[in-house]
Amino acid sequence: MSIKGFPENFMWGGAIAANQVEGSYDKDGKGPNISDVVKVVRPEDRKKMKLPFPTTEEVKEALANKNDKDYPKRYGIDFYNRYKEDIALFKEMGFKTLRVSISWGRIFPDGDDLEPNEAGLKFYDDLFDELHKQGIEPVVTLSHYETPVHLALEYGGWTNRKLVDFFERYAQTVFTRFKDKVKYWITFNEINAIMMSPYIGGAFLRDQVKDEDILQAKFQAAHHQFVASAKAVKALHETIPDGQIGCMVIGMLNYANTTHPEDVLEALNDQRNTFFFTDVMARGHYPAYMTRFFDDNGIVIEKDESDEKVLQENLVDYVALSYYMSSVSARPETEGERVAGNIMSSLKNPYLEASDWGWQIDPKGLRTLLNMFTDRYEKPLFVVENGLGAFDKVEEDGSIHDEYRMAYLREHIREMREAVADGVDLMGYTAWGPIDLISFSTSEMSKRYGFIYVDQDDYGNGTLDRSRKDSFYWYQKVIETNGRDL
Ligand code: BG6
Repeated sequence: MSIKGFPENFMWGGAIAANQVEGSYDKDGKGPNISDVVKVVRPEDRKKMKLPFPTTEEVKEALANKNDKDYPKRYGIDFYNRYKEDIALFKEMGFKTLRVSISWGRIFPDGDDLEPNEAGLKFYDDLFDELHKQGIEPVVTLSHYETPVHLALEYGGWTNRKLVDFFERYAQTVFTRFKDKVKYWITFNEINAIMMSPYIGGAFLRDQVKDEDILQAKFQAAHHQFVASAKAVKALHETIPDGQIGCMVIGMLNYANTTHPEDVLEALNDQRNTFFFTDVMARGHYPAYMTRFFDDNGIVIEKDESDEKVLQENLVDYVALSYYMSSVSARPETEGERVAGNIMSSLKNPYLEASDWGWQIDPKGLRTLLNMFTDRYEKPLFVVENGLGAFDKVEEDGSIHDEYRMAYLREHIREMREAVADGVDLMGYTAWGPIDLISFSTSEMSKRYGFIYVDQDDYGNGTLDRSRKDSFYWYQKVIETNGRDL
């Protein structure tokens, strides 16, 4: 048991994303983004759920479809109009920080516009002012699965080098506008998601790339994001000298299924689905192991002459990660029961329990992973997403006894505390979805993460009233005691 606690200035809080909470997807000049055209997965199809990879025609059909109820990310939880009420509740819990994302399409509706949309900038001005008024420090993600859909349709998303320039313009615009209000930034949410989902991660469409070229396209798109991220790092350091900017990945820990050397090698390779991305952004160059991988897979990445220098000279200040579960790697022919995950499935780990959605719960894995990141980069780390998606039952008196959520978070926070004692330089912890929101993977509402309950069902019905779950008071105590009383 660790005796060392969290640092005094530890950034406790929560994390949300524009596309899952704001709603008002077509208000005040906002352009549609790639998440606004993703249809809900109904409860009966949950098990068959696959991340979307639509064609041009399917996206156009979705844009023409005005039945917003089928597209829950269009209405979210109405944070756009209710953010003051929600921030007051975060304040009541004692939040030091709130991670939000800026919806790129509120600022540049098509993504390639030359001039920003003032109404969009104004919304975030007001939001950041309100946070400061309540003593909450914003941590802002530039891109959380919110690439304007026009860039997918017209340019093939991130496979096109032009997106680097569009992103740079967007990043520079918001850094300049919010330089006195936002000190902590993140470039791309879960940048390694592109390996599992070319659409969500890379914003390109199924008919834009031949099946046999998808792997090539993913790495080309990732390269463009690395360069865009490095350019944003440069712009941030020039514009906000006392600011800090991090990269962010899905923090996945890959165990070997057995001690068979081939399983162990497989786990190492899978682990690189995470580390490749942080290696480039935290060390500033492509790791040697990728040369072999690219050769073996016939991948040739087109780079500009200046790219290597840009990557090397603009390292991130910290590494941020989401962490929900761990995974098991095995030789390809291995048979066995599989379980679901936020972005990929895995073999079942017999030592772990799983959530209602089949995600394998592994608090100890978080300690291990934080140590691995520290050994590799010796940089500050920030856990910017972690939490349990679960069904909640509202009692007759309106109370919600979510002991399961507290148990999940308690164990993860305990292991983070151990990691700090191990020597990990941990900046903060923002629990995912401190208020119930629209699920990323299924767009359901009944997969709830919040300390705050939102009265809305999977079909968009409800009063949208907010109420406190038992975990609300628990997290309040955790923050108040700086993680000593769990
Ligand atoms: C992460 C995403 O992958 O997982 C979030 O960054 C997402 O946007 C979270 O909401 C949980 O996933 P889900 O599908 O349960 O909402």
